[in-house]
Amino acid sequence: MKQVLIDGYGQPEEFARCAEVPDVGAPGAGEVVFDVLAFPINPADVSFCRGTYRLKPPLPATPGAECIGRVTAVGAGVSHVKPGDLVINLQRENWAQRRRVKGEDVIPVPSRMDLRQAAMLRINPPTALLLLTDIVTLKPGDWVIQNVANSAVGRLLIPLARARGVKTMNVVRRESLFSELKTLGADACVVDGPDLAEAVKAQTGGAAIRLGLDAVSGRATARLSACLGEGGVVCNYGSMSGEDPVMSRSTLIAGGQSLVGFILGRGLATRSLEQVRAMYADLGGQIMDGTLYAPVEKVYPIEEIKTALTHAQRGERSGKILVAPNGML
Ligand SMILES: NC(=O)c1ccc[n+]([C@@H]2O[C@H](COP(=O)([O-])OP(=O)(O)OC[C@H]3O[C@@H](n4cnc5c(N)ncnc54)[C@H](OP(=O)(O)O)[C@@H]3O)[C@@H](O)[C@H]2O)c1
Repeated sequence: MKQVLIDGYGQPEEFARCAEVPDVGAPGAGEVVFDVLAFPINPADVSFCRGTYRLKPPLPATPGAECIGRVTAVGAGVSHVKPGDLVINLQRENWAQRRRVKGEDVIPVPSRMDLRQAAMLRINPPTALLLLTDIVTLKPGDWVIQNVANSAVGRLLIPLARARGVKTMNVVRRESLFSELKTLGADACVVDGPDLAEAVKAQTGGAAIRLGLDAVSGRATARLSACLGEGGVVCNYGSMSGEDPVMSRSTLIAGGQSLVGFILGRGLATRSLEQVRAMYADLGGQIMDGTLYAPVEKVYPIEEIKTALTHAQRGERSGKILVAPNGML
């Protein structure tokens, strides 16, 4: 079977290759084997390949924080999934044609779910949801400001916020995205820059913004913080700039603001397996009824992993880059 291996940490397309490896074999007791139908290339996967992610296993290593798979066999004692079921996998190393994992790590998803959307269900939809629920208590009418608003997380967050009556101020790098984001339910959009706080105030009429969601880091964090009211919370959950977040002393000390971090794994770890399964069932339902949607720019075969990785690192994409290891979707 085919599996992506990286032989070094560095420029992803230089070190990643599609290798022929032994098959995963039959499932043991409590295990599940599934064919990987598709996986996305997320910023965290790129960071993993570069060696800048929090996990840096010995080489050669296989990336892949999420995928959608179809169960081919289950071991003794596994009853919540059966051959033919679509599943997402809570564990990593998914850039392969086949996986053999612990049964408790796979979560079944409805067979009618669009495979491209299902491939992106595991990480970004719950991230968008928990950024809204786990950082500060938001009431209807409250404002949230987010950068990378046209990312998958940003686009998913807009309808999730709207459903709660929470207003979104969406920061992007180009004005041409405004109409798409407004169609998704964005209350306001703004282009990032040195005068961000003034541009935001002009649109909110000076209403306090309680939460700033930052996945750019560097000075972008300080620009978001400048848009928040006294006591506001900036939540850093990514670094598209590759830098560490910067916040001014005055906003922290005199403004009483705080800078906190978010990672999905910690958010899921505070919940029981039943709660996690229920959350994915709810998010899956919202994907199937079209409420939640993340666009895809291109799907590649696994043999073209180097080209796919190069493409995934381009700015101004219209959507995710996916890889379909077992034949095109
Ligand atoms: N902490 C967690 O648990 C967690 C979970 C999921 C995702 N994340 C983070 O969330 C962020 C978005 O992920 P995603 O999968 O939704 O992303 P995505 O769909 O791949 O989109 C990437 C976004 O980053 C923007 N971008 C790229 N380089 C940039 C730069 N140098 N400065 C500012 N913006 C830049 C792009 O804007 P353009 O269109 O203008 O190029 C685009 O909006 C990432 O940082 C990711 O690591 C964190």
